[in-house]
Amino acid sequence: MNVSRQFVVGAALALINASSTLAADVPPLPGWAYPQPTPGAPRAAPDDSSAKHVPDSEAAFTRAQITGRGVPVADWHPTDHPTMPDIVAQPKTQLNPPLLSCGYCHLPSGGGRPENASLAGLTPNYIRQQVLAFKDGERPGSDPRRGPQTSMIAVAKAVTDDELTQAAAYFSSIKPASFIKVVEAETAPKTYTAGSILAKLPTGGTEPIGNRIIEVPDELERFELRDAHTPYTAYVPVGSIKKGAELAAAGGGGKTLVCGICHGPDMRGLGDIPRLAGRSPSYLLRQLYDMKHGTRTDLNTALMKAVVANLTDEDMLALVAYLASLPP
Ligand code: HEC
Ligand code: HEC
Repeated sequence: MNVSRQFVVGAALALINASSTLAADVPPLPGWAYPQPTPGAPRAAPDDSSAKHVPDSEAAFTRAQITGRGVPVADWHPTDHPTMPDIVAQPKTQLNPPLLSCGYCHLPSGGGRPENASLAGLTPNYIRQQVLAFKDGERPGSDPRRGPQTSMIAVAKAVTDDELTQAAAYFSSIKPASFIKVVEAETAPKTYTAGSILAKLPTGGTEPIGNRIIEVPDELERFELRDAHTPYTAYVPVGSIKKGAELAAAGGGGKTLVCGICHGPDMRGLGDIPRLAGRSPSYLLRQLYDMKHGTRTDLNTALMKAVVANLTDEDMLALVAYLASLPP
């Protein structure tokens, strides 16, 4: 109890420090990893009642059946995973506000989406610890306005200990997969914020990539239907994958630590230290950024302190471009 209080105090102090320096010249959040709403953005498709289909699936759902609200999670690919416990599949409508199922946001396969996180194959201990960290205020994130983050915190506060044990065992038992293709490019599609992620502008067009990763679903329709096989392309700056690989393998001459010591030589995780290979670069960047700026502070992030302390935004970008490109 004392230990966790200390860490909460530490986090609060770090937040105060961060906001006092923000007034000076702290760079703005990397907007590509924390997408802000686009005023006048094109709206999601209207709620018609026709049965929808996605590739490689015999299932059919109407839009009303994929909202996760008052209905079980839409499971397009039931053979990808074992039977879901209730907390993963069913919303708890008796609570106020109602609790969405884990599978609604993280998908039945635990593959996740760029605005949340992949959970498949993480250890039960790690999953438990993180949910408790959200609950205890140790993962507020760097953008307190970001809807997905506040939703995860609300879930962590509402879930019971038994449910958490079941969810952790379930996601842990699934073999991770990746549907993200990482492509180095001088230019990337022009984007807007669709919900909480970047999507290609319907009117098309490209622009210089600059110092950004542009992670977008190849087909927005499949993303909106919450198809766990939705393919993504992550456009990354030319040279960033190699730069990230070198930093990860050699530590940049003392700038950071060799990642594989703790995360495993192939970045697939080691004991309770999480897998990084093949995960969403937007998710990974938010974690490095949050740990560096003191907005993710649970106990074990102490081990990441020396890793992130001297990394620039560009270094972090290169690392996550590389990590996302690895087989999961
Ligand atoms: C409303 C959507 C939503 C629901 C429902 C939800 N999550 Fe999350 N979860 C998120 C978001 C968003 C993040 C990532 C936050 C960030 O970007 O740092 C997250 C992150 C996590 C992480 C951190 C993963 C890591 O690698 O550190 C775990 C573990 C997790 N969720 C477990 C669960 C469990 C278990 C449930 C069900 C009891 C659940 N979540 C339900 C949105 C959700
Ligand atoms: C000394 C051990 C150690 C080293 C070296 C290390 N990490 Fe970590 N890393 C951890 C631990 C422990 C965690 C989990 C922290 C927690 O429990 O919240 C973690 C978590 C992370 C996360 C968040 C993952 C998630 O699921 O949310 C990222 C991203 C990450 N590390 C990237 C890196 C990169 C990139 C490097 C190399 C440049 C690296 N780490 C080197 C120990 C280490």
